[in-house]
Amino acid sequence: MTDNTKMEKIVSLAKQRGFIFQGSEIYGGLAGTWDYGPLGLALKNNIKKLWWDTFVEKRSDIYGVDAAILMNEKVWDASGHTGAGFTDPLVECTKCKKRFREDHLEGTDCPSCGGELGEKKDFNLMFETKVGAQGNQRSYLRPETAQGIFVNFKNVVDTMRPKLPFGIAQSGKAFRNEIAPRDFVFRSREFEIMELEYFVEEKEWESEFSKWQEAIWNWTDSLGLSRDNLREVEVEGSDLAHYSKRTVDLEYNYPGKGFDELSGLAYRTDHDLKSHQEASGTKMTYTPVDGEPFIPHVIEPTFGVERALMAVLAESYTEDDLGDGRVFLKLSKQLAPIKVAVFPLMKNKPELVSKAREVYEELRETIPQVMFDDNGNVGKRYRRQDEIGTPWCVTIDFDTLEDNTVTLRDRDTGEQQRIALTALVEALDL
Ligand code: GAP
Repeated sequence: MTDNTKMEKIVSLAKQRGFIFQGSEIYGGLAGTWDYGPLGLALKNNIKKLWWDTFVEKRSDIYGVDAAILMNEKVWDASGHTGAGFTDPLVECTKCKKRFREDHLEGTDCPSCGGELGEKKDFNLMFETKVGAQGNQRSYLRPETAQGIFVNFKNVVDTMRPKLPFGIAQSGKAFRNEIAPRDFVFRSREFEIMELEYFVEEKEWESEFSKWQEAIWNWTDSLGLSRDNLREVEVEGSDLAHYSKRTVDLEYNYPGKGFDELSGLAYRTDHDLKSHQEASGTKMTYTPVDGEPFIPHVIEPTFGVERALMAVLAESYTEDDLGDGRVFLKLSKQLAPIKVAVFPLMKNKPELVSKAREVYEELRETIPQVMFDDNGNVGKRYRRQDEIGTPWCVTIDFDTLEDNTVTLRDRDTGEQQRIALTALVEALDL
């Protein structure tokens, strides 16, 4: 299977199995937007939960916030986003008037009609909007979650009294008017970021940066991404964001696309807190016990939710020759949208259906992501669950009614074992 074919198969499976649909599809779509169906949402939530558990719940030095998406426009002036810092180079064809991102072009002529391309312009990626009935207060849909953290720095310091080094984490929607959204959900106009700002003393930034590099590798291990499909890239020159003194991206080898950014680790210096202090007049300092106040420096590990999801789908997509050939998602139990599916052997036997319903309801009490399926023959149901990555299937048959045992089937090996209902939850090992 070529890499391009693999990507096409993943995109089609994502749609057919209820993971990801084109945004506003029935109206012809809206470029760069995607809608998540029940399974895509569950997978996305599982990724976000794993991130939150890893970096917030399990750490005593990181605090969570959930800031407003709409912010005072002065935030974006101070952060540098309204200026030339947050732009992509745009060129327009003088003939067909189509617009392109100049740094993504391969030749010098219009890729659509071959016409001559005009002068390069800086195109700001922020979506502007108006707030209030008068419509005279400008705001923007946030292009990153980081600024919601910086403007709350003082609030968190004053209320939680953290000791340096410490972090503030936030995940949520971000919006960028990408010139050329593409590659499925990889480059969208509306997407989600999981990011945290880790505040350190200036002299500590290099050692903290290395610790975060390690933490990011551990995180991608927990997503199940093979290290062979990942590489670190030092971002240099004009590719470096306007706020960064050092950035190391982690790139994933996306099928049909090759290595491209999955996450970034940036040393933002004291750029943001200092700019907000100057622009707002509010002190953005931290005062150590027995020390003088100072503005901390910042290390920022940032992860795109959709890019993580796309890497997880690519990594887990597997074809083997079980039965007459099958497709399955080899997702970890933690990430799988459905952990276990429960089937009555036959749909038209009420005693089997009601026993299966009973097992299903019982499992739901301890396991949140359980599915009941009585549609089609059991072989087909196995295939459907394989395609959505369900680690376990449980079949209720006539023997179950006699001796309270069920057939438990393993997704990866296809092996089936007979097991007592009382031992089921433990055997699932979720
Ligand atoms: N606060 C830093 C920041 O926003 P970024 O590299 O511009 O950094 C963070 O974006 C992450 O968001 C990226 O590492 C990438 O995974 C994801 N990302 C960026 N632009 C995206 C887009 N248009 N569509 C989907 N994900 C995107």
